Amino acid sequence: MDKVRLAIVGCGVMGNRHLNGLIELDRAGLNKFELVSACDLILENAESLAKRAEESFNYPVKAVQRLEDLKEFEIQAIDATVVPWEHHTVAIEAMQRGWHVMLEKPMGLTIRACNMMKRTMESTKSVLSVAENFHYDPINIIGREIIKSALIGTPRLMIQNSVGGGNSVIVTPWRHYKRGGGPLLDVGVHYSYVVEYLMGEVETVYAYKRLHEPVRKNGKMSSEVKADAEDAIYAILSFKNGAIGQFTEDHAGHGQGIWQRFIYGSKGSLNLPGDRSGKPVTLTIDGKGVIKDEHLLDMLPEYRLDEITAKLFGGERICKYELPFADIDSKLLAIEYFDFAESILNNRRPSVDINQAMRSVGLIYAMLESAHLGRTVTMDEIMSEKVNAYQNEVNEMIGL
Ligand SMILES: NC(=O)c1ccc[n+]([C@@H]2O[C@H](COP(=O)([O-])OP(=O)(O)OC[C@H]3O[C@@H](n4cnc5c(N)ncnc54)[C@H](O)[C@@H]3O)[C@@H](O)[C@H]2O)c1
Repeated sequence: MDKVRLAIVGCGVMGNRHLNGLIELDRAGLNKFELVSACDLILENAESLAKRAEESFNYPVKAVQRLEDLKEFEIQAIDATVVPWEHHTVAIEAMQRGWHVMLEKPMGLTIRACNMMKRTMESTKSVLSVAENFHYDPINIIGREIIKSALIGTPRLMIQNSVGGGNSVIVTPWRHYKRGGGPLLDVGVHYSYVVEYLMGEVETVYAYKRLHEPVRKNGKMSSEVKADAEDAIYAILSFKNGAIGQFTEDHAGHGQGIWQRFIYGSKGSLNLPGDRSGKPVTLTIDGKGVIKDEHLLDMLPEYRLDEITAKLFGGERICKYELPFADIDSKLLAIEYFDFAESILNNRRPSVDINQAMRSVGLIYAMLESAHLGRTVTMDEIMSEKVNAYQNEVNEMIGL
């Protein structure tokens, strides 16, 4: 079968990491794409990615500046790794041109932006896949299997806490601007995705928000960034299954940092490590103590990674992995590409469900909207855009 003709749109940090993922997929002999073009408003960025791709794939890859320039290459799909406030514009135009789209997280800058993309996806019948790499981490997959298998009994409490960062710039200045989504959305959308991936749907949210560090120091450039987006959220969640969640995402923490993802149930607890670390989960069951390695696998007879994940991570029933971060990153991005190709070629839904990707954006905004209004909000109010006072400012900034 012919390969799917692809362009990478957005050739900054993540565009280049995606290229690493495609190279990894190619090396594994599972690449169903032909990367024909690299597109970026900054032509040098497109040229530099195209050059790297040419060196890896040994065929010409054209660099262009605008989406419409891609027409002449008869592409069928784009991988959009542009800045978050451009996601909806790029994805909608691409789908209207008849192309399939894989889109980096957060799916959209607001729920309105997500809804617009979803409507375009439905009317054009294009595949719209959200590249939520944490979905594919084998450790999160085993974590979900443990909960599904009721090894900790009925879930009662989830703790998702991260604190750190001080007053440094997080990777790029745009991550501190509201019109860029702010760090709470840009980073937190991964966590909110995993929260519902493991625990099921959140029903209500109450939160406080803060902007602790309005002036951020950019170490490398010894310059300052004036932040207007909040950098900390402290929330209580209630899940539809009756469990309660505590969610802290504080990008301004000084001193000792925290990373915690715990789930407590009626029979035991599950402690999950940082995403993309490959460290094992700690399952502790009353009367049995800590269950590890082979013992853990014995308790999970149904647990099996899919073919590509097993191939890239070294086994279909692994419960940990030890790899350099760059390799882990590329492997997860390779799996995303594989899933995108399978969705296009077999006319099936991508593994990251579009509604779930939207809800991960919605859950971050539920916290921000709750803090803005000073009351509990429901996820239904957020997803239906009935509550959007906080997002209105962001929507105005991006002309929605
Ligand atoms: N999943 C992850 O682990 C992860 C990590 C980092 C970034 N991201 C996501 O990847 C996306 C890009 O982030 P980044 O760090 O690469 O940003 P970046 O600023 O490094 O790169 C973005 C690139 O997009 C280009 N661009 C912007 N608008 C465009 C348009 N309309 N058409 C073509 N090119 C355009 C810019 O010129 C720039 O080169 C964001 O959505 C971010 O949240 C995901």
